Amino acid sequence: MVVLRPGALVEKILAPSGSLGTAGLDIRVHAAASADQAELVYQVPGATTWNRGAWRPAWLLKHRQEPYSHRFDVAGREWRIDISAQPAPFFDSHADALLALLLGLLATFAGTAYLRSVALRAQRIHQLVAQRTEELERVNGSLVEYIKAGKLAEEALRQSRSKLRNLANHHEKIKEDERKRIARDIHDDLGQDLIALRIDVSMMAEPPTSAAITRTRIDAAVGQIDLAIEAVRVIINNLRPATLDLGLHAAVEWQAMEFERRTGIVCEVDIDHDEFTLDDKHATALFRMVQESLANIIHHARASRVHIALRRTNDRLFMKIADDGVGLADDYHGKPNTFGLIGIQERIHALHGTFSTASAPGEGMTIMVSIPI
Ligand SMILES: Nc1ncnc2c1ncn2[C@@H]1O[C@H](COP(=O)(O)OP(=O)(O)O)[C@@H](O)[C@H]1O
Ligand SMILES: [Mg+2]
Repeated sequence: MVVLRPGALVEKILAPSGSLGTAGLDIRVHAAASADQAELVYQVPGATTWNRGAWRPAWLLKHRQEPYSHRFDVAGREWRIDISAQPAPFFDSHADALLALLLGLLATFAGTAYLRSVALRAQRIHQLVAQRTEELERVNGSLVEYIKAGKLAEEALRQSRSKLRNLANHHEKIKEDERKRIARDIHDDLGQDLIALRIDVSMMAEPPTSAAITRTRIDAAVGQIDLAIEAVRVIINNLRPATLDLGLHAAVEWQAMEFERRTGIVCEVDIDHDEFTLDDKHATALFRMVQESLANIIHHARASRVHIALRRTNDRLFMKIADDGVGLADDYHGKPNTFGLIGIQERIHALHGTFSTASAPGEGMTIMVSIPI
């Protein structure tokens, strides 16, 4: 009797080919034409049934080989042998290529990121340079303005110093002229009157030829005394206007009347309050301003009408003198060596007041001042 040990038989056949030791190779022999589990007579030891595609998609698996199946006849009975290989994941055979691909991708990403950071850095540097340049240009602009302002201030200071020097010289000259005028007035008027009076009085020492002659000599002497008194009054009045003793209001009205009488130019005075007492400094400053303005109108304005307004609030005094004459030329920047307007300005500033003028060619000129009281 022949005892067929299929397991030994299959191992004997397959052993020389080395297939038995191949991992993942499943060899099954059935003693039937179908792969019936009941007829399984041999299975490679250690082979397990794999669950294909249970955890990974089919595309990841290596080109799967179709299972090999062969039928053969043993002692008139059909047997079958099934050989199948366990599919390996795709990576197993392409690990190197995949690694290279991965490294390549990483290198590409790193390279791109580096290039991008370099580009961003360059862009940032560019922006910073533009920003700094703009800042520098701004600072430079302010510096130029600053230097310009400094030069203008220097020039203004130089002009102001020169004006002050001229004004001081002018004041000296005025003082000198005033002294000369007073000396002349005293010499010509008071002096002459006193000489005449002396003659009259000395003639009285002569014995009179008649009472009528005595009377004539006494009348002449009294006349000379009256003239001397009048001369003294004129001299004093020139030194300080006597009308100011009556108050600024009355002094301005008297000055306006005199001006109108002498020039024929209409001069209105508009004062919105009754007479009030002002200290001498303020009254003199405002009165001299009226005198200088009216003198300017006579000499420069060719006006037909003048308007003087004096207003007072609790703590300030406002004065405005306006004419309807030719006004200041458009390009008027102050004439050299003229001191009338500057003199007014100086007096007003000395009283902590403000001084301003308004004028246009052909539209007259207005002088406005305001001083605290
Ligand atoms: N009311 C006015 N109308 C037109 N021009 C005037 C008037 N007042 C002053 N001016 C101009 O301003 C200049 C300066 O005046 P001022 O300082 O008083 O000096 P001055 O009278 O000695 O010339 C005058 O020379 C004149 O050209
Ligand atoms: Mg003048």
